[in-house]
Amino acid sequence: MTHQPVIVRGASLLGEQTADVLLVDGVVAEVGTARVDAPSDARVVEADGLVLLPGLVDLHTHLREPGREDAETVRTGSAAAARGGYTAVLAMANTSPVTDTAEAAERVHALGRAAGIVDVQPVGAVTKGLRGEELAELGLMARSRAGVRVFSDDGKCVADARVMRRALEYVKAFGGVVSQHAQEPTLAGATACCHEGELSGRLGLPGWPGVAEEVIVARDVMLARHTGSRVHVAHASTAGTVEVLRWAKSLGIQVTAEVTPHHLLLTTDLLGGYDPTFKVNPPLRPAEDVEALRDALADGTIDAVATDHAPHARHDKEHAFVDAAFGMLGLETALGVVASVMVSSGRMGWGDVARVMSTRPAEIAGLAGRGDQGHGRPVAVGEPANLTLVDPAASVVVDRDDSASLSRNNPWHGRTLTAAVRATFLRGTPTVLDGQLVEIGATTEGSLT
Ligand code: DOR
Repeated sequence: MTHQPVIVRGASLLGEQTADVLLVDGVVAEVGTARVDAPSDARVVEADGLVLLPGLVDLHTHLREPGREDAETVRTGSAAAARGGYTAVLAMANTSPVTDTAEAAERVHALGRAAGIVDVQPVGAVTKGLRGEELAELGLMARSRAGVRVFSDDGKCVADARVMRRALEYVKAFGGVVSQHAQEPTLAGATACCHEGELSGRLGLPGWPGVAEEVIVARDVMLARHTGSRVHVAHASTAGTVEVLRWAKSLGIQVTAEVTPHHLLLTTDLLGGYDPTFKVNPPLRPAEDVEALRDALADGTIDAVATDHAPHARHDKEHAFVDAAFGMLGLETALGVVASVMVSSGRMGWGDVARVMSTRPAEIAGLAGRGDQGHGRPVAVGEPANLTLVDPAASVVVDRDDSASLSRNNPWHGRTLTAAVRATFLRGTPTVLDGQLVEIGATTEGSLT
């Protein structure tokens, strides 16, 4: 496919040196600290004062298609992702039907290709129907056209240690990874809906103790050590989990972990008003946990930021707190939250943001080494032109109605966040320009908006 060339002028690469970057035929054709000559038909993107990053990669997105197209579709979720600076997302398996077969994985993958806005990489279920009993078609999903490498029963913990052990053994053969929703079910009642602590007692809400997460993380790192396989901790949420991760990594156990933007900034106190917007699984935790997660992200104990973008239709979310669905939107605000929490405070630079939101997630998901389809690559000549252009000085008041998502369960509504995505490029083609979605002609019909 031929593309209109793009010249990005005067961007700061990962917040460091300033350069012109020329994108031709899907790859970075030239990077120059002096002025780069562009073909006469090139689109010029003036990027003075802007930061150029490798396109963001989300390890944890719920796209809801098939089954809940009233909450999100592959196309609307992809559009939300592009607005958030993403060029690839991993689509969680808890759809209806569940992504537990090769056909189901290929279908999600094909929907992603048809939308053509970000690369949609399906996550395969670990167990059939997410029931936690029998392994799903892991090998067939891996060998399918979708090339599944990440497996997760997200939303549910793979609680049976024997099943988890078998899954780890199985995925090792093809370099896969099991992403665990760590939550020991016997340590919380079926109706648990928030962090177990002093506040949950006062509010009369049944809670999960932090230790329900920590015992599974501890068990799973030992299983990873035993099997020599890779385990990934989805949405780490407690200081105790961070301690286990630190210890396991110091022993060389192959464990990686992600933290969500909401666990980096929001605390359990927000539940005081019983607003279901703040109901999420794992739950918002106390400030001590948030602080430990920030430290762990800054020092690399936690590898990645992943959104757990969880769109829900109004009629599933607007209920009494105990009955409302779990989850919150995240794709369009993730970069702003990370910039507000980690960059503005000086705890991380833009190079670190590139690491935790692009390079490491792409490596964990096996998306980095896919040649011209690769993600999380350096901004360098010959690399796929998956890129994000960010205004680091922007200050944005989040408006839940200014969204490409079909859902509105946005916990950031009304908050001011730092930094804004100005442009996103998927293999050299702009999907977002001047902060707005671009109509994609080549692979899709109609407009994005
Ligand atoms: O809050 C959540 N929502 N946590 C999960 O693990 C699943 C997700 C969903 O699918 O809505």
